Amino acid sequence: MERVVGGMGPLVLGGVGLLVMYYVMQKLRFKNRVQDSVVVITGASSGLGKECARVFHAAGARLILCGRNQTRLQELVQELGKTTNSKIKTYTPHTVTFDLSNTDTVAAAGEQILKCYGHVDVLINNAGISYRGNIMDTHVSVQRDVMETNYFGPVALTQAILPSMVQRHSGHIVAISSVQGRMAIPYRSAYAASKHATQAYFDCLRAEVERFGLQVTVISPGYIRTNLSLNAVTGDGSRYGVMDKTTAAGRDPVEVAYSVLRAVNQRQKEVLLAGPLPTVAVYLRTLWPALFFKLMASRARKEQRLKEE
Ligand SMILES: NC(=O)c1ccc[n+]([C@@H]2O[C@H](COP(=O)([O-])OP(=O)(O)OC[C@H]3O[C@@H](n4cnc5c(N)ncnc54)[C@H](OP(=O)(O)O)[C@@H]3O)[C@@H](O)[C@H]2O)c1
Ligand SMILES: *[C@@H]1O[C@H](CO)[C@@H](O)[C@H](O)[C@H]1NC(C)=O
Ligand SMILES: *[C@@H]1O[C@H](CO)[C@@H](O)[C@H](O)[C@H]1NC(C)=O
Repeated sequence: MERVVGGMGPLVLGGVGLLVMYYVMQKLRFKNRVQDSVVVITGASSGLGKECARVFHAAGARLILCGRNQTRLQELVQELGKTTNSKIKTYTPHTVTFDLSNTDTVAAAGEQILKCYGHVDVLINNAGISYRGNIMDTHVSVQRDVMETNYFGPVALTQAILPSMVQRHSGHIVAISSVQGRMAIPYRSAYAASKHATQAYFDCLRAEVERFGLQVTVISPGYIRTNLSLNAVTGDGSRYGVMDKTTAAGRDPVEVAYSVLRAVNQRQKEVLLAGPLPTVAVYLRTLWPALFFKLMASRARKEQRLKEE
């Protein structure tokens, strides 16, 4: 009998150990790192940024909302003020208005952001602009403008906030990229290029700041139901102004905002939020490029035919 009990001891201990580990992991999984944290969201006036503002506000973040239009940001602050949460303490957001495409003003905006609370815990680089056009008809100035807003703006803002994060050995930087940061689709050159650059920059950053205990997350969603395509620019710099079917049929921005919150709470390094087809395409680009190029060329021909009809 004694022998049997003696033999079961390690088993029971092991079982209890596993249970404790499971409990701790669950705790970590659902840890709300956002409560009372200072969270900066760019492009908070619309679409995904606006939903992130709602979700992070409800989770108890001390928000700093950024955009170009102060009126729209204030409207959001008013709206958030009306939502009450009995379980979690919520804060009235600050707003900082600036144009990301004007790199000179971004450093000053970074200082203004740091002044709000003296530090930043989470910087969410969400603002962005899309593009639709044929490379042959696209002014180089448009290629540059999209790059300024989607790439150099976030780079300048990140580098304005980074030194204080390094000094504190604490901080999390999030980049909202796109599946088009992982593979390039025809007639989206400026956008895909800006998102590929984003992916590369934040991958380098992640490796470089790990030793300071900083987190870097790149989120790559497929289509989201926002005004992104309406607000997109075309080859001559004019507004595209069309709600694309693909965008209209995209993911609910609320759902994507929760994925952003989860990525922050769980310190995920990378999140690909795409359906099976785009996911396969991302892997094809690496594993079978010849097939990927064929598929993209055929897609380009098909889109051109549709335009000519
Ligand atoms: N929708 C999609 O299908 C999709 C898919 C993958 C990734 N994304 C990415 O998700 C992010 C959010 O886009 P969204 O879909 O929410 O589009 P959206 O509704 O058009 O929102 C874009 C936001 O960016 C801000 N913004 C644009 N240009 C700016 C500039 N020069 N300076 C400062 N702020 C600027 C806008 O603010 P103001 O106009 O008020 O200044 C607005 O709040 C973007 O990075 C986008 O690339 C979107
Ligand atoms: C999209 O733009 C329209 C007006 O152009 C606005 O009424 C609507 O609230 C916007 N949607 C989002 C999700 O920002
Ligand atoms: C800012 O947003 C408000 C409210 O949506 C709008 O009426 C106004 O025209 C916008 N201003 C600019 C400069 O775009």
